[in-house]
Order: sequence, then C-alpha cells, then structure tokens
Amino acid sequence: MTDDKHIDWTKLRKDFPILDQQVHGKPLIYFDNAATSQKPRVVIDALVHYYEHDNANVHRGIHELSNRATAGYEAARTRAAKFINAKSAEEIVFTRGTTEGINLVASSWGAKNLKAGDVILLTEMEHHSNLVPWQLLAQRTGAKVAYVPVTGDEGILDLSKLDSLLTKQVKIFSMVHISNSLGTVNPVAELCARARKLGITTLVDAAQSAGHMPVDVQQIGCDFLVFSGHKICGPTGIGILWGRQELLDAMPPYQGGGEMILSVEYQKTEFKKAPHRFEAGTPDISGPIGLHAAMDYLDAIGRENIWKHDQELASYAYEKLAALKNIRLFGPKVARASRPFDANSQPTGGTPVPLPNRGGLVSFLLADVHAHDVVTLADQAGVALRGGHHCTQPLMHRLGVESTARASFYFYNTKAEVDRFVEVVKEIQKFFGQ
Ligand SMILES: Cc1ncc(COP(=O)(O)O)c(C=O)c1O
Repeated sequence: MTDDKHIDWTKLRKDFPILDQQVHGKPLIYFDNAATSQKPRVVIDALVHYYEHDNANVHRGIHELSNRATAGYEAARTRAAKFINAKSAEEIVFTRGTTEGINLVASSWGAKNLKAGDVILLTEMEHHSNLVPWQLLAQRTGAKVAYVPVTGDEGILDLSKLDSLLTKQVKIFSMVHISNSLGTVNPVAELCARARKLGITTLVDAAQSAGHMPVDVQQIGCDFLVFSGHKICGPTGIGILWGRQELLDAMPPYQGGGEMILSVEYQKTEFKKAPHRFEAGTPDISGPIGLHAAMDYLDAIGRENIWKHDQELASYAYEKLAALKNIRLFGPKVARASRPFDANSQPTGGTPVPLPNRGGLVSFLLADVHAHDVVTLADQAGVALRGGHHCTQPLMHRLGVESTARASFYFYNTKAEVDRFVEVVKEIQKFFGQ
C-alpha cells in the first residue's frame, strides 16, 4: 500500500474503533492528533496478546515466557532502528517519550560536556520539553541558553541570525522538526549540517514528524533524535531516543538500578554498554511491543503517503479558514511542492523549489473569543480541538498571545471532517456576534 492513489483513507478509519462514536450526540471528529494519536486495532491486539500469552520480566528469567517477552522487547528495538534508518539497534534507547529522551540527553550528555560559559542553542518555537531540561542544565552548569528567533505569525525560523548565533561557545543545538503550535517544518538537515561543520552536537525533536513523514537519522545528519510512541499510533509511556553509538557509549548512566549493570560491589558498579546502560529497572515491556505493531502499521501505509494526506488536509483547512473574517492564523502560509518532497533534505542549489513547509495542523484565534471558548463550543459539536499555549508559552508570548486553538490532523481524518469543522467555526463566530 505504498502508492497513495490506491489507499482508501476512509477504509483505514475502520481500523480505529474509537473513531466510531458520538460525542455530545454528534459524530466524533478527532482533531487533537498533535497531542496524541488514536490506536488502530492491530496495536490494541498486540498489547492484549502480550498480556494474555507472553507477560514476564525481560532479560531476567531463563524460562519460556521471559524469553518471549525479551524477544518481543528486543525485536521492537530492531524495528525502531529500521523506522528511522539507524545504523544499529544498539543506538535505540527506550524512554517514556520525547520528554524523557531530552531529559536523558540533557542530564547525561550535558553533565559530561557542558561547563560555565558554554551555550545551549534552541529555537523560539520549542515545546517546553525541549526547553525546560536545558534551562535546568544551564542552572546546574552555569551554561547559557540562546534562541534562534521566529519571524511573526508565519512562525518561520529567522535563519539570517544563525551564523551569528552559532558561536564557538555553542556545545549543543537542539531543535524541533515540526512545531506543534505552528506546524512549521524546520530544515533540520541544513541546520544540523551547519552545526556539524562547527563541531556542535545536535538533537532533533521529532515528536510531530516521526509518525507523519519519513524520518531518516542518517540523512538528517543529527547526533540525537527523539520521539514518542503515543503520537504515532503506539501506546502512551513509550518513546525512542536515538543517539550516535559513539556518543551513547561515552555517556554516563542517567538512572541507576537493575538491568543496567554488569556487576555491582558495595563500593562500585560496572555498567552495561548502551543502550541497556540507560534502561534502569523493569522497563515498559508492552509499550515497545505495541509500538512495534504501530510502526509496522504506519509503514504499510507508507509515511510518504501519510505526509501527502496530512498536507492535503492542512492546506484545505488553512485555505478555508483563511477565507473567514475576524480570524488570525498562525504558522507558515501553505505552499505546495512542485516536485516530490524529500522530507529530510532541503534544496542545496539550483532553482528554488517551494517546499511544503507546514505539517498537518492549523492554529488560529477568532477575534475577541478566547481559544478555550472555541474549544469548548467545538466539543459540544463533537469536534475535539486543543486550546491553550500547547506547552510553548515563550512562543505564545513572542506572538503576543496567551493561547491559540489548534486543529491537528492524521491520516484517518477526512476533508468532509474539515468541512464540518469549518462550519462549526462559523457557528461559533455567529454565536459571538461576528
Ligand atoms: C514538538 C513536541 N515536542 C515534545 C513533546 C513532548 O512529548 P511527550 O509529552 O510525549 O514527551 C510534544 C508533545 O506534544 C511535542 O509536540
């Protein structure tokens, strides 16, 4: 199912039992996918099968169930490596999610490599999970945090400032791939290449991209990449940290406990190599097994197809909303690609090609209506949106707002749902006398 012409998107919806329900007496339209995605039957079945047949602790028992649980857990690691084209499964660390992945790098890599006067470079559009761990690290080490600025409501990185920001003091540049508040797709391959030339370590927050487009760590050329299982049709509580082998091997443990040791004496401990060194204690075992099923499911559809579908919906929604009065839209203006889009690389020369620079979401504000009121009224109409600062408070302040309303799409959403959503937005405007 890799050619999008042959994908019956409406049929795929049937794989998601949760979508077939009414909310407040109206058919559910789930447009909160940037917060978390829904789970297809195959993922739910994989979790049930694990608990009904194979549940045991990993790497501990020598009995059949433990062997099966361990095999399932490690097979998911190999699958995750393939999902992002890592060189080996040893480069994959299981975490609780994007947030824990970044905290792990900040604590472990950061403690070893940062000192007073060093600079941590971020962008102004980071999620709190790619901001607060670095602030904490800065407080501990005396390093400073600097930011690549974002242009106004269009929410694009101002790369004219990048050369002056990439100073000798910068030790790590950590950046979001797709902004969860704006939908901006950042040129991460170019940013990593520019950092790499200066010996700066890079981290890519792929929370909003990994399940929506092909993501290839070797093509991006980053040093670390993180994402969450629950945003890509997998269970909550499981995520992936990918790191270059040589970096992971040189990093000290993040937490201590069982599973991550070779030998323990009363006064000293020898640790396992990466990735087990970073997985202390009994891990989430069903999580990787469910995530494995989710990765298989997404790649059977083809992430390049999912990306095209996301973009169709986002462009459609953006254009329809932009036609309304008294509305403020955030994030890049929709630009359509005139050639097949390579999600990981950017054009390096020749004729400039307009790239699709917006992921599958639209953030907006209605004049004089609080985003929470929009979301509450939309919910009454069966439409699940998100309203608030989306864990990007500094960005909101940069835009001069406290919150926005956000509709975020996935492949199981349809144009008919966007039509209904836009109708609901119009009804809300009418309700407020606009
Ligand atoms: C861009 C981005 N980064 C990080 C996160 C944090 O992900 P999690 O809460 O799964 O750790 C999110 C979640 O919304 C996100 O959108």
